[in-house]
Amino acid sequence: MAGTGNEQARKTAEGLAYHTGFGNEHSSEAVPGALPLGRNSPQRAPLGLYAEQLSGSAFTEPRDHNHRSWLYRIRPSAAHPPYVRAEQHAVRSAPFTDCAPDPNRLRWNPLPEPTGPADFLDGLWTLGGNGDATQRTGMAVHLYYANTSMDRRVFGNADGELLIVPEQGGLLLRTELGLLHAAPGEVALIPRGVRFRVELLDATARGYVCENYGRPFQLPDLGPIGANGLANARDFRAPIAAYEDVEGPVEVVNKFCGNLWTATYDHSPLDVVAWHGNHVPYVYDLRRFNVIGSISYDHPDPSIFTVLTSPSDTPGLAGVDFVVFAPRWLVGEDTFRPPYFHRNVMTEYMGLIEGAYDAKAEGFVPGGGSLHNMMSAHGPDQETFEKASAAELAPQKIDDGLAFMFETRWPLTLTEQARDAGHLQRGYDDVWQGLQRHFRP
Ligand SMILES: [Fe+2]
Repeated sequence: MAGTGNEQARKTAEGLAYHTGFGNEHSSEAVPGALPLGRNSPQRAPLGLYAEQLSGSAFTEPRDHNHRSWLYRIRPSAAHPPYVRAEQHAVRSAPFTDCAPDPNRLRWNPLPEPTGPADFLDGLWTLGGNGDATQRTGMAVHLYYANTSMDRRVFGNADGELLIVPEQGGLLLRTELGLLHAAPGEVALIPRGVRFRVELLDATARGYVCENYGRPFQLPDLGPIGANGLANARDFRAPIAAYEDVEGPVEVVNKFCGNLWTATYDHSPLDVVAWHGNHVPYVYDLRRFNVIGSISYDHPDPSIFTVLTSPSDTPGLAGVDFVVFAPRWLVGEDTFRPPYFHRNVMTEYMGLIEGAYDAKAEGFVPGGGSLHNMMSAHGPDQETFEKASAAELAPQKIDDGLAFMFETRWPLTLTEQARDAGHLQRGYDDVWQGLQRHFRP
């Protein structure tokens, strides 16, 4: 349905209701009485359903990061034929060993449009990452460009959770636990192992995906900020139980230790009639982010913009942070207001959802991305530097863009397809070449 998008999916997406809150223990049933009361695994589950536990953490992990949901479904997930290796498309996983880690600053234009029909999975393209999917450490950066809905096809990722950042085109995500609508400006999270199908609301859809192999994203601690602020828990939305009772062939693609595997089921695995638990997908509107910043002087470190963090085994050192540069006021006195020049042990992949970013006057475009690897020197381009150094420091509203960052503790190694891509911008270094010396001893 090129040109009009999927009318049915759009109608469905508009009418969705949600549970609210982050990390909550939710209960949901699509049919009254489907959820057993007082126990998880009764001798006979209600309505002839099968009870099944889906764990995102080891059974024994501490309560504050123990993730699991109980699913009550038409058939147990165990009822499936053998998986066989599938076409890998452009999906790659950690460890990334094809290229030498590159200290250069790199920037890409948006992914080229697919030349034939491509659903979300066909259109998924890996830029690079770090860690090791089999060790559950690190992360990968993917982009997607789709022009058709997944049809009788379902995807699940054993390797980690997927944070989907739409840039163009709304998505209807049909997950085992129910439906989510994710539009540009919102992000959706699919937990490890949860099966889902992506339907397009518009003719095409493109965006970014952070695959997090490590500990599930959580809200950052707020310290002296207090009990409120940044991403507020109440603004996260989890799905209401919804199931499809579909017989006949459905392809289930399973990403396991980096490889795609496929099996043709005789039914849809999106057949969960009721569930309860906290291993749940969710969606979050980035415009709800409560931006905290300086009201005296200096540009705070961008960690102040952290939406979600995946802690590592070292306190304060994230496997990956998801950071948003949302509309905000700049009021700092005697302050260079755009992001300062810096070199940092953390590695930063930045993307742009709409508009422009305040440290780059040009070249950083919606759908594109930049990579500033560990200790690489970066900051405002020459034009931005000149302007900001001379600007009159009246209160200034930054509201012409929505940029984000996947920031990770380990350097990021590219895939060959990202290193050799036609849409890699040659000459990105030039944006800093015009910076003149102003030193007058
Ligand atoms: Fe940076």
